[in-house]
Amino acid sequence: MTEPDVPHRHPLESPLLERHRAVLPSWMALYYDEPIEIVRASGRRVTDGDGRTYLDFFAGILTNAIGYDVAEISDAVRSQLDTGVLHTSTLYLIRKQVELAERIAELSGIPDAKVFFTNSGTEANETALMLATQYRRSNQILTLRNSYHGRAFGTVGITGNRGWSASSLSPVKVGYVHGGYRYRGPFAGLDDAGYIDACTEDLRDVLRTSTSGDVAAFIAEPIQGVGGFSTPPDGMLGAFKEVLDEHGILLISDEVQTGWGRTGEHFWGIDAHGVTPDVMTFAKGLGNGLAIGGVVARGDIMDCLGANSISTFGGNPVATAGAQATLDYVLDHDLQGNAAKQGATLMAGLRDIQSRHDLVGDVRGKGLMIGIELVRPGGDEPDPAAAGRVLEETKARGLLIGKGGLYGNVLRLAPPMTLTSEEVTEALGILGESIAAV
Ligand SMILES: Cc1ncc(COP(=O)(O)O)c(C=O)c1O
Repeated sequence: MTEPDVPHRHPLESPLLERHRAVLPSWMALYYDEPIEIVRASGRRVTDGDGRTYLDFFAGILTNAIGYDVAEISDAVRSQLDTGVLHTSTLYLIRKQVELAERIAELSGIPDAKVFFTNSGTEANETALMLATQYRRSNQILTLRNSYHGRAFGTVGITGNRGWSASSLSPVKVGYVHGGYRYRGPFAGLDDAGYIDACTEDLRDVLRTSTSGDVAAFIAEPIQGVGGFSTPPDGMLGAFKEVLDEHGILLISDEVQTGWGRTGEHFWGIDAHGVTPDVMTFAKGLGNGLAIGGVVARGDIMDCLGANSISTFGGNPVATAGAQATLDYVLDHDLQGNAAKQGATLMAGLRDIQSRHDLVGDVRGKGLMIGIELVRPGGDEPDPAAAGRVLEETKARGLLIGKGGLYGNVLRLAPPMTLTSEEVTEALGILGESIAAV
């Protein structure tokens, strides 16, 4: 048999998807049966390589916090580029880094706070782990089940989600506490107070049974992002902090998704729990797409390292210029207030959709961070296939949304915080039609 006559194609002439698959890792998932390339964007809308425009309700995984093509940010970045200085290293003073650190230290509410800038949320959490374990001279960390804190060894170790745990190797000894995923699990049916009591007692039990007593820190996302926007009752982490304080254990709030006013009611997600953490980590929305993350911590904790430590790129002049402009925009335009307002309308509309469709088991979240958990009608069995189909249906109607949760069955809505009322109406219409079509 002769080989079919296949014309030889230079790799650069192949479709981008084929080239992507050939040279990029298989574990870096792409959305959609036919993945898209976003080539232009403005406001809350993005355009793909085929010229189709979509309303973007996932915003680069909550990272394009105030949308696309924002003149104030482009101008700030451009004026830094015009100085000719893209990078200096932290061996030299970086004015914009100092200014940004001053602002974040003040916004954090943490007394005598200091800030260290990184390039990502993973590095921010790795730094928090380094600080807490050195400060407390302990390698023990507690975290919530269903958590996600990043992709490096320390942060994968404290991630409580099988789907994101690529390795069991960990530099820290980890204990997992209940309280992350309320819709399922042993305490699912309890009311707020009962749930808080049960989870707080579980924390005490984990401390008694699974640790050597001298735990360094407890880390939590105030709303679990990758975990499907699972939202604990307000005050739960405050109740936890009372227990942590009895043992001198530090509280780290991972604000990578919940920071900068996205939850609407508060500037930081942890504020819903009535406590000030010892350490907070942040990334994603701060640079509106520029690579910047960091840690803000009490000065004595930040200064506890007994060796040099730098991040070569962390907080460089370009990233901090963009981050300052983003922060100005968030505060000057009261985007937290807008997140509360638009989020309330969105939530009400989604609850209405839920009342009409058995497929929707739970609608939860705060502000512009809303999860829709899909289940097999008639019960609460997770339906990840339906979530995949809803993503295709919304895409076909011009709306991009996200997906997540322990079972991959939770739709995630997290549009830019500049969202308008008209866009809320448009998205609700598309979501209603898409869920009905599945
Ligand atoms: C809560 C949380 N922490 C940490 C990270 C890790 O951030 P990065 O992907 O920037 O390393 C993420 C990323 O999704 C996150 O959602």
